[in-house]
Amino acid sequence: MIVRSVALVLIAVGSVGHALAAAGGLGELVAEGEEWWKSSPDPRDPVACATCHHDRNETSGWAASFPKYRPLPPPEGRVMTLLQANAEAVRRHYGLADPERPALAITAYLVSRGVGVPVSPGIVAGQPAFEGRLRALDESVGRGERLFARRCRSCHAPGTVAGAALLFPSTDGQVDSLEAFLGRHRPERLPLGWDGQPTADIIAFLMSRLAGQPVGGSPEYSP
Ligand code: HEC
Ligand code: HEC
Repeated sequence: MIVRSVALVLIAVGSVGHALAAAGGLGELVAEGEEWWKSSPDPRDPVACATCHHDRNETSGWAASFPKYRPLPPPEGRVMTLLQANAEAVRRHYGLADPERPALAITAYLVSRGVGVPVSPGIVAGQPAFEGRLRALDESVGRGERLFARRCRSCHAPGTVAGAALLFPSTDGQVDSLEAFLGRHRPERLPLGWDGQPTADIIAFLMSRLAGQPVGGSPEYSP
């Protein structure tokens, strides 16, 4: 299904206690993510993601609700994918300069906990929704739709390709996020970059078309 053309070079994260899983199955990636989630890599500062985010019901709704506006201090507030929001949190709370790999593993872990939850852009069931943040998400979807028309539509109909967004993170031979896949997909066009706003906008557009569909579309996520 997904043909990988470029090898993803895995760069070891030099932190104590977090073994880098080889490019193995999704189960290993999820287990690695659970470890990042539950324990800080810094022995002097044991506060981990799970220390603050202990409400399982809330975090199991995250995968279904992203991309979403993150109200960070200006000028950083913006619509982000779950991977990008996790990367921002890994940078901030764990102080890691290169957060992509831990963020990918944490994203896989959170998706595994959200399997079956219906996609609900911008909204976690039972949590308050803020109008300004939903408006920012609408604008992101609009930008994503225009980008899609310019950069993707010549090869993909949105209705057929959108569903592929639910197959990530995946380990089809190697671990991959949708962001990294899109970041190097069709390199003859200007690369988008996994962490950028255009990537978040395109994914926001794809997810807006998937409302109601269950998270975790890849059979790899089945127990
Ligand atoms: C010291 C407490 C604390 C720690 C540690 C922490 N967070 Fe958070 N996190 C928060 C708070 C508070 C929010 C904010 C609620 C908001 O802004 O909407 C938040 C929001 C988030 C969100 C956005 C959720 C949403 O629905 O919009 C994500 C994703 C997230 N954190 C991931 C992480 C990850 C991954 C880690 C570990 C690397 C982590 N956080 C560590 C306190 C923490
Ligand atoms: C020049 C044609 C072309 C363009 C432009 C293009 N793609 Fe693709 N895309 C392909 C082909 C061919 C494949 C299947 C082979 C592969 O994975 O590279 C594919 C695969 C994909 C997949 C994986 C599908 C799956 O089932 O796993 C996604 C998601 C995707 N494209 C999204 C996009 C998005 C979003 C854009 C715009 C930013 C885009 N593509 C632009 C040709 C294109």
